[in-house]
Amino acid sequence: MSHAQESTQYPPLPALPAHVGIIMDGNGRWARKRGLPRLAGHRAGVENLRQVLRSAVELGVPIVTLYAFSTENWHRPPDEVRGLLRILNDALDKEVGELHKNGVQLRHLGDLSPLSPHLKARIQDAVALTRDNDRIIANIAFNYGGRQEIVAAVRRIVRQNIPPDTIDEALISDHLYTAGQPDVDLVIRTSGEMRVSNFMIWQGAYAEYYMTPKLWPDFDKDEFYRALEAFSQRDRRYGGLNS
Ligand code: IPE
Ligand code: IPE
Ligand code: MG
Repeated sequence: MSHAQESTQYPPLPALPAHVGIIMDGNGRWARKRGLPRLAGHRAGVENLRQVLRSAVELGVPIVTLYAFSTENWHRPPDEVRGLLRILNDALDKEVGELHKNGVQLRHLGDLSPLSPHLKARIQDAVALTRDNDRIIANIAFNYGGRQEIVAAVRRIVRQNIPPDTIDEALISDHLYTAGQPDVDLVIRTSGEMRVSNFMIWQGAYAEYYMTPKLWPDFDKDEFYRALEAFSQRDRRYGGLNS
């Protein structure tokens, strides 16, 4: 697609988020609608990521966080959990080379410790391989929970013997998995659910939220643009007053 076509279909927006979080929900319902097993929905969801990351680059979003597996998702039936771990492993096998070529810097948010040594190493290798890429940062939140993240931050702070009086909001931010990154400005959730499900509860304190009924495997560039457009029309007051 030429640049001219691109800009008429997606006119530039007056304000863009520096950091977009996406709660990729609805894979199971997408599969059920088609009479397929839930794991087929998860595979379709991972397939969709490539296109969404490309759209993020084209639409001018510098950081995206993708919520792929929550600390609560271990409560699913063992078969589904195993399937999700396998799908992550396959996606790393299949996609990392291409993502690296396309300048994607992959990062991981969450607790790697319960993962198998093999999967843990694959994730760490992907992060190390892509660390100097600068086209877009893609944080993969896998075994991520906002509360768990804060607990982990507190533990690290205590271990460093940091004097209580010097603990402030910036120090806590610096001990989260997203240390060094701006807070999330826009959180998108697919599949119509109206909750945060433990996603970036610290970083999202002043995020704008955008919920769409689209199921994750159907979330495309048009939908992404619509979310950004809605964001650009929001009046962000941060507790103050805008003139
Ligand atoms: C989101 O899809 C993916 C994960 C939570 C791993 P779901 O699996 O939650 O799909 P629904 O909500 O059952 O449709
Ligand atoms: C949130 O979706 C987690 C991810 C998308 C990874 P869930 O489907 O797990 O959330 P609940 O259970 O509906 O809150
Ligand atoms: Mg769900």
